[in-house]
This record gives sequence, structure tokens and C-alpha cells, in this order.
Amino acid sequence: MQDFRDKIAVITGGASGIGLGIARAIASEGGHVVVADIDETAAKAAADDLTSRGVRSLAVRCDVRDDASVDAVFDAAKVEFGGIDLLFNNAGVYLGGEMKDCTLDDWRFVLDVNLDGVFRVGQRAAAFLRAQNEREAGRGGYIVNTASIGGFMSHGGGLAYAVSKYGVVAYSEAMRVDLEPDGIGVSTLCPGPIDTNLPASDRLRNSGETTGGMSEALSPFIRGGMAPDDIGPIVLSGIRRNLPYIFTHDDMRELFKARFDSVLDCIDRIGEPA
Ligand SMILES: NC(=O)c1ccc[n+]([C@@H]2O[C@H](COP(=O)([O-])OP(=O)(O)OC[C@H]3O[C@@H](n4cnc5c(N)ncnc54)[C@H](O)[C@@H]3O)[C@@H](O)[C@H]2O)c1
Repeated sequence: MQDFRDKIAVITGGASGIGLGIARAIASEGGHVVVADIDETAAKAAADDLTSRGVRSLAVRCDVRDDASVDAVFDAAKVEFGGIDLLFNNAGVYLGGEMKDCTLDDWRFVLDVNLDGVFRVGQRAAAFLRAQNEREAGRGGYIVNTASIGGFMSHGGGLAYAVSKYGVVAYSEAMRVDLEPDGIGVSTLCPGPIDTNLPASDRLRNSGETTGGMSEALSPFIRGGMAPDDIGPIVLSGIRRNLPYIFTHDDMRELFKARFDSVLDCIDRIGEPA
């Protein structure tokens, strides 16, 4: 996809941070946006912001943990805009803390949103785009699944988050292969530190259990990170080039090299005497 003018984008987690940065980039190129977010007030404010930039926008309250709520987003996009061209499968939460302190409740909270939610929204979007292509041959479409650099390296801290993002990478890679014959592109977005509200994820937990600021542990890492508005153009450029992975920070290269060198080293040592 090269031209975003009059394209319709659905963005989960579009009310804040990276999702909002992408929404503004789409709007700056004349695209229209469905802001789907669990925070209805913030979603409405984001949609107003986008509308003031001269494009159409719709706020829909959506919890990616709930089938009916996700269906409602695609139904609303169909009614309001007649279809969709892009999905940004982006809603996510973070909990930090050491591996030994990660409880099953922490694990479920993060995996429910970051992995099950991405699967639920991704499957719905793929079916929607395929059906739309049957009616309107050649319309195509594009899906960007937000993973993280944490989807390639895990060190035990923020365990559930890293596991969820490894899962998003696998899901997104499979989706790219599956949808390519239908003319639907798929990229995996792997941001480095972006200065967003992610450290406030604790507030979205509905178990009522206090997590002692486990998401706040992220603050030192992302404060001073890239501004969310700067990531939008990077993402649109990645879509134009149909990149399998869209990275944001080239200073992560050495970390990736060390990781993949260690994998290759273990392959080279197959059959080595013990
Ligand atoms: N900020 C970073 O440094 C960074 C780095 C790598 C990846 N990411 C990923 O980027 C994505 C966006 O995060 P962000 O950093 O912009 O944080 P953010 O908190 O600013 O935005 C996340 C948005 O998702 C929404 N959300 C949370 N749970 C939801 C649910 N169940 N249903 C629908 N919406 C929900 C929140 O209300 C919020 O508006 C996440 O998947 C995150 O893991 C962020």
C-alpha cells in the first residue's frame, strides 16, 4: 500500500501513545480512523483531535478481551465507512517485576490483552478483509501487529510481557504468509522505547488486585524515549515497503546480533563432543 488518502484504518489502543501517533500520521496523509480503545473518554478525545485535522474519525469503546466488543468495532467501521483498509492491532499492557514474583494472575492479565486480544482482533480483521476482497476485487488491505523488541529477547524481567510479545511475533509472521496470496500485507511492529502511558497499565487491571506499581517499573526505560508522534511516519514508511518487521531504533542492532549469533553458535555445535 502506497497511498493512505481516503483509506480507512482501525486502530486498537488508538486513544494513546503509539496508536495515537499512528492515527495522526494516517490523518496527516488524508486517511480516516476508527479509534478502538477500552478508555472511551480518551478514544473520544483522540477522535476529536483527528477530526480537527480535517479527516473523519469514529471512537468505539472496545475491550480486545471480549468477542462482542471486537465485533462491534468492525460492524461500526462497516456502517460508518463502508469497509476498512488497514488494521493496527496495537492495544497492549505491561507488567514488570522479577520472574519469581510473576503470579498466574499477572500472567493472565498480560496474556489476555497482549496475545489473546491480538489473536481475536487479528482473526476478525483477516476474515473481514478476505470477505471484502471477494466483493471488491483488488482492494487488498494491510495489517500491522504491534509486538516489541521484547518479542525477540527475554531476560526474566517483565516475563509475561516478553512471552506475550514473542507470541505476537509468531502470530504475525504466520499471518503474513497466510494473507499474502490474498493481496493483504502484514508487518510486525517492533518498537524500542517510546514515551507513552504504558507504565500506567496497572489501572486497566480488573481483578481488583493491586500490583504495587509493577507497570511503573517501565518508566525509567521509556521516559525520554521516542515521542509517539515520531513513530507514525516510520510505520507508514514500513507499510509502503511491505517490510516484514518495522523497527524504530537502530541502536538495538548489536543486541539482536548477539542473540542470533548465540542461536547460530548452538547450531554450529550440534554433534560437538560433550
Ligand atoms: N511504549 C513503548 O516503549 C513500547 C515499546 C514496544 C512495544 N509497545 C507496545 O505498543 C502498544 C501500544 O502501547 P503504548 O506504549 O502506546 O501504551 P499506551 O498505554 O499509551 O497505549 C495503549 C492503549 O491501549 C489501550 N488498551 C489497553 N488495554 C486494552 C484493551 N483490553 N482493549 C482495548 N484497548 C486497550 C489503552 O487504553 C491505551 O489507550 C502495546 O502493544 C505495547 O506493548 C510499546
